Amino acid sequence: MRIVKSVAAMQRQAMRWKTSRIPIGLVPTMGALHNGHVSLMRLARQRVGKRGKVVVSVYVNPTQFGARDDLSRYPRNLRRDIAMCREAGVDALFVPPDRQMYPGRDLDNYSAYVVEEVLSRPMEGASRPTHFRGVTTVVAKLFNIVQPDIAVFGAKDFQQAAVIRRMVTDLNSPVKVVVGAIHREPDGLAMSSRNQYLSSEERKQATALWEAIQKARQIVRTSKTGISASRLKHVLGKFIHRQPSAKVDYVEFFEPMTLQPVSKVVRGAHMALAVFIGKTRLIDNSRL
Ligand code: PAJ
Repeated sequence: MRIVKSVAAMQRQAMRWKTSRIPIGLVPTMGALHNGHVSLMRLARQRVGKRGKVVVSVYVNPTQFGARDDLSRYPRNLRRDIAMCREAGVDALFVPPDRQMYPGRDLDNYSAYVVEEVLSRPMEGASRPTHFRGVTTVVAKLFNIVQPDIAVFGAKDFQQAAVIRRMVTDLNSPVKVVVGAIHREPDGLAMSSRNQYLSSEERKQATALWEAIQKARQIVRTSKTGISASRLKHVLGKFIHRQPSAKVDYVEFFEPMTLQPVSKVVRGAHMALAVFIGKTRLIDNSRL
């Protein structure tokens, strides 16, 4: 596995592969890798084949963190990330430095952003106003650098995948977006780099997100005519708040393609939620 530490070197490598018509699959990450990330690497390999090249990027992107977010304490463990990528059969690990991703002395001197203006608004966008601008900008940059034929994202960040799909369509990007299923711990908690922040007591309470999804699914699937979204929000809010450290940020029900909220929740609607467990903000989602 090659470890590529500069934008120029990554662009040269991508150009060589392109000239030889070798397909490139990209898995963008912020590191602190877990088995959810590994499942995306395997999916990328499946899509590009043995002859193709799988590139994983590890970059903790400052522009997607809000002022009150956890940029400085975001978990970093490059040595372990390298071992996991090697083990997963990755061809190149791209680890760019901040000064090349955001040229200029600091972020105040950076001014070219990519903005998706519709799907970015609700849910994560409402709670974290500049978050998706940072995500679309860094993903567009990674596409320019790595020139992938396919890029793999996880359904764990359902809205993110929808926003990136829209960016690719609207900007006529030649990249094919592939979305992999959510990888979960045995008790249902969606794997996340941020799970490391949880104390052992909080870790137990964190299953509330998955349990709320199960509960919603059961309610929706046993009611003939569906249930009103506000009623279901209320029921799930009470259910989640039985955990002493839990505080709901949002619970939303929506149409999965457009992310438009539904007033009546029926089977096939999509549910997403964000919940603070102590100081750690966790998200999850599922089709109901
Ligand atoms: P990060 O949180 O590191 O996640 C990288 C990719 O892994 C994302 O596409 C995410 O949806 C996926 N992922 C995370 N947990 C998962 C799980 N339990 N099962 C399946 N997939 C999972 O998302 C980001 O980084 C950043 O926003 C990024 C796209 C890299 C841009 O900076």
